Amino acid sequence: MSKQRVLTGITTTGTPHLGNYVGAIRLAIEASHAHDMLPFYFMADYHALIKCEDPERVRQSSLEIAATWLALGLDTDNAVFYRQSDIPEIMELTWILTCVTAKGLMNRAHAYKAAVAANEESGEKDLDKGVTMGLFNYPILMAADILMFNADKVPVGKDQVQHLEMARDIAGRFNHLFGEHFVLPEAVVDEHSATLAGLDGRKMSKSYDNTIPLFLPEKKFRKLIMKIKTNSLEPGESKDPNGCTLFGIYQAFATRAEVAAMRERYANGIGWGEMKQELFEYLNDALKAPRERYEALLQAPDHIEDQLRKGAEKARGYSVPFLKRIREAVGIRSMAER
Ligand code: TRP
Repeated sequence: MSKQRVLTGITTTGTPHLGNYVGAIRLAIEASHAHDMLPFYFMADYHALIKCEDPERVRQSSLEIAATWLALGLDTDNAVFYRQSDIPEIMELTWILTCVTAKGLMNRAHAYKAAVAANEESGEKDLDKGVTMGLFNYPILMAADILMFNADKVPVGKDQVQHLEMARDIAGRFNHLFGEHFVLPEAVVDEHSATLAGLDGRKMSKSYDNTIPLFLPEKKFRKLIMKIKTNSLEPGESKDPNGCTLFGIYQAFATRAEVAAMRERYANGIGWGEMKQELFEYLNDALKAPRERYEALLQAPDHIEDQLRKGAEKARGYSVPFLKRIREAVGIRSMAER
């Protein structure tokens, strides 16, 4: 039996943080070692251009994301790890898919609708103000990412589920017109994976600017942990671990027994300062070794580039012949053959 194909992309606009790690990266790295699966993991740098017009940020983010995944032990022998922009076939497929995608389908995309709604709310006459064709076509590029490799499963956050439905729609339309070429991909939303709160207690997210980067020099890391917002209960007063940002982060890393013991200490009135120090020490121990590898990788971008080049070669082993088949299916073929 052929291996199940799992594929996911990471937009290269930010620095990986604790929330990204426990929400997605950790599981993906684990899965990269499962030899009954064929994982495709890539950096969605063309998607980054949709939200970000700062070239240095796109470059830096790509570097940090690649270094993070490699430092955490991604199995690059089993998984195909690449940069979207290294696979020109994805762009070609995007156009082919664009030609079978109903505009009405894109009108319904959440991100586009949110932009229109924001214009409406602010009394703007031009409802499409600030909307680029990149934003509008975003789901088609994402469909191409997925369909290019005939992925079976696509692990994503809840906010991406609609994009997966659109990819299925587009694939179905293409198959109907030109024959069964594409697998209809399924979204995998991990309901169990932890969502962490950030520095201010809201969901940790780069859009709230409340994140704790996964790999920071120890001192800076400690400083940020100390900055996490808590309530004003004094040491000695019993505290509720549920809904506590510090506890939530601890829980995402610690073992069950450790978590149970910490619950006890909350009941017994652990002070916030003490808890922050505990959390810092725990995370610091867990992250020390990969952090050292991360720093070494950032000092050796050639090595990262090398890994990505190999990944792209592997990916193109799939995309080149498959795109040829797709082009032929739509009638873009050699004159010499019939
Ligand atoms: N849109 C995804 C996000 O913002 C990133 C992404 C791009 C992606 N292409 C993909 C995810 C293909 C899964 C499959 O999170």
